[in-house]
Amino acid sequence: MRILGIETSCDETAAAVVENGAKIVSNIVASQVDIHARYGGVVPEIASRQHISVIIPVIDEAMSKAQISWKDIDGVAVTFGPGLAGSLLVGVGVAKAIALALGLPIAGVNHIEAHIYANWLEREKPPVFPCLCLIVSGGHSDLILMKGHGKFDKLGQTRDDAAGEAFDKAARILGLGYPGGPAIEQVAQSGIARFPLPRAWLKGTYDFSFSGLKTALWHLAQREEILAKGSAVADAAASFQSAVVEVLVGKTIKAAKEMGVGQILLSGGVAANKVLAERFLNSSPIPVMIPPPHLCTDNAAMVAGCGYYHFQTGQVSGYDLDVVPSLSLG
Ligand code: KG4
Ligand code: ZN
Repeated sequence: MRILGIETSCDETAAAVVENGAKIVSNIVASQVDIHARYGGVVPEIASRQHISVIIPVIDEAMSKAQISWKDIDGVAVTFGPGLAGSLLVGVGVAKAIALALGLPIAGVNHIEAHIYANWLEREKPPVFPCLCLIVSGGHSDLILMKGHGKFDKLGQTRDDAAGEAFDKAARILGLGYPGGPAIEQVAQSGIARFPLPRAWLKGTYDFSFSGLKTALWHLAQREEILAKGSAVADAAASFQSAVVEVLVGKTIKAAKEMGVGQILLSGGVAANKVLAERFLNSSPIPVMIPPPHLCTDNAAMVAGCGYYHFQTGQVSGYDLDVVPSLSLG
C-alpha cells in the first residue's frame, strides 16, 4: 500500500511517498527556517503563507522523485493537529482536494503520533509492543506508553516549556540564533559542562519541567564575563545541554523499567541531538531506538508511515476532516 503523506503543522512544508508504513519512496522537506530566523522564532502568518506558496511544488517533487503516477497512490495521510491553525489548514485543504479528486481514502494523523512512527521507517525489524515513547520536539515533551498500533497511554508531559522550546530559548539567551537545538549542540562540543544548573526531577511523576533551568541559565548569562567570553558561552551551552539530557534520560529509563517495556522509542526534533542519543544508548539497559536525524525533525514520511497503520486499523477520516490545533495524544 502506497501512501502520500503531507505535513504542514509548523514551519516545514513536506510531502512523502511511503510503502507499507516502512519503505520511503520519496521524502521532500522545504524548510522555512531561514525565513523565520531573523524574527528569532516562527511567525504563524508568514508560515501559513509560505506553505501556500510551496505545497504544490513540494508534492509534485515528491511524486516525481517517487517515479510513480497518481494511480499508484492508495491513500492520503495528513497532519491535522497539533500545530499552528493556519499552517495545518493548508496541508489538510490540499490533502482533502487530492483525495476527493482521485477518490482516495484520507487519514488525519496526529503529529505526535507521526513522530513516533518515524521509528517504523526503513527498519529491518519493527519496534515491539509494549514500548515507551519519548517525544521531544519544539512543542512537546511527552512520555507515552504504546501498547499497540493506535493504543497510547500518556504517562507524563512537560509542565511548562517543551524540551525543544527550552533549547530554542537557551540559544536566544546565549546569542546563538534560531533554531536553538542544533546551535547549542554545535557550540557545546567545545565546552565543558562546568556550571551547576538545576535539574527538575519532579519525583513521583513522569512529568518534565524546563522553565527553571532556562531561568537559571538566564541568571548565569547576566554575569557579564559569561557572554563576553566565547569559551564561557560554550561551557554554558554544554551545561544546559547536559542538564536537559540527564533529566530526559533518567526519567525515561526509570519509567521504562517501571512499565516493564522491552523497548524505548525516541522521536521529535530534540532526538536528533547526538549527546542525547549517546547518553541513552550508553546508559539504558533497555534497547533504545532512535530514527536518523532527518526523520527526527518534521517530515512527511513519518506522516505517511503513520497513515498506513491508520488505514490498516480502519481509522479512516471523512472528507470533512478539519484541523485541531490543540490535539493531544493518549
Ligand atoms: O519535531 P520538530 O522538528 O518540530 C516540532 O514538532 O516542534 O522539533 C523542532 C525542535 C526545535 O525546538 C529544535 O531546536 C529542536 O527540535 N532540535 C534540536 C536539535 N535539532 C532540532 N534540539 C536539540 N538538539 C538538536 N540537534
Ligand atoms: Zn514535530
